[in-house]
Amino acid sequence: MSRGQYPATRMRRNRMKAFARRMVAENRLSVDDLIWPMFVIEGTNLSEDVASMPGVSRLSIDRLVDQAIEANELGIPAIAIFPSIESSLKDEVGSLARDGENLVCRAVRAIKAAVPDIGVICDVALDPFTSHGHDGLYQDGEIPNDETVAILCEQAVHQANAGCDIIAPSDMMDGRVGAIREALDAAGHQKVQIMAYAAKYASGFYGPFRDAVKAGSGLGGDGKATYQMDPSNSDEAMHEIALDLAEGADMVIVKPGMPYLDILARAKTEFGVPCVAYQVSGEFSMIAAADANGWMDGDRAMMESLLGFKRAGADAILTYFAPKAARILAK
Ligand code: PBG
Repeated sequence: MSRGQYPATRMRRNRMKAFARRMVAENRLSVDDLIWPMFVIEGTNLSEDVASMPGVSRLSIDRLVDQAIEANELGIPAIAIFPSIESSLKDEVGSLARDGENLVCRAVRAIKAAVPDIGVICDVALDPFTSHGHDGLYQDGEIPNDETVAILCEQAVHQANAGCDIIAPSDMMDGRVGAIREALDAAGHQKVQIMAYAAKYASGFYGPFRDAVKAGSGLGGDGKATYQMDPSNSDEAMHEIALDLAEGADMVIVKPGMPYLDILARAKTEFGVPCVAYQVSGEFSMIAAADANGWMDGDRAMMESLLGFKRAGADAILTYFAPKAARILAK
């Protein structure tokens, strides 16, 4: 490729006028790229603010349905549902995860009845339901892998029975994607997609989420480092993605988002499969807090951060900014 030299080449020429900047723009964010994560609680007509996530609330199912309708009206293709469970209902083994009438399953049924066309994504992991807050079972200070996977399979089948379109295993156990695929197929759910949290890092950026779902804030010890990835690693993420794809994942998530754009870019170029970025709670709260303090133009920083995911190779983005961004894109 020939590249000219100054003064024959002046890079600023293509930036001089608004029409030209529009014309040469290489990447675009669209509402089609957005996935809106939402928090659900028991009760009726309830909305609780999440203190660490300005503008985000936990909603009872009836209100959650209204929010799903809003998402649909905004043109957002899919939502992801996360439950916040009362501590009295949690136990050591996360029994509620194996209950087909649990909060998540009832929320999915209600949403599918009201807005059948919106894509519904359910997390698979035990942390909302365990008293210790780990994503798996917790025995003698360890998270047993295969015993946990067996429960995750049951959880996934219940969610699919409820009408969930996409199962998203976020637990980072080994072999869970293949096991869940088999369990779904055996239950007649061949059409249910799997969006695997393939490269999920042990991150400090999940803090506000753990506040939102009231789980996992007091893990102690190694925290989730024995199953979530070490932030140092990049090749290991490619290995994880390769395994999840071989086990039947339809798409892969890189999480968190902004500090791991290099991983996202590698994933997209090395595998050429649908790649999803998760702009996690801490990333949301940093921008929202700086905006609230008047330290940055929050909308501008938000749109720039989302475009950054597109540039890095994301096909879709899980973001708490989804409704706000959708409104700006509609203008
Ligand atoms: C739980 C789960 C977490 C998030 C999504 N699913 C937290 C964790 O792994 O501790 C984080 C999402 C966010 O921070 O926005 N398996």
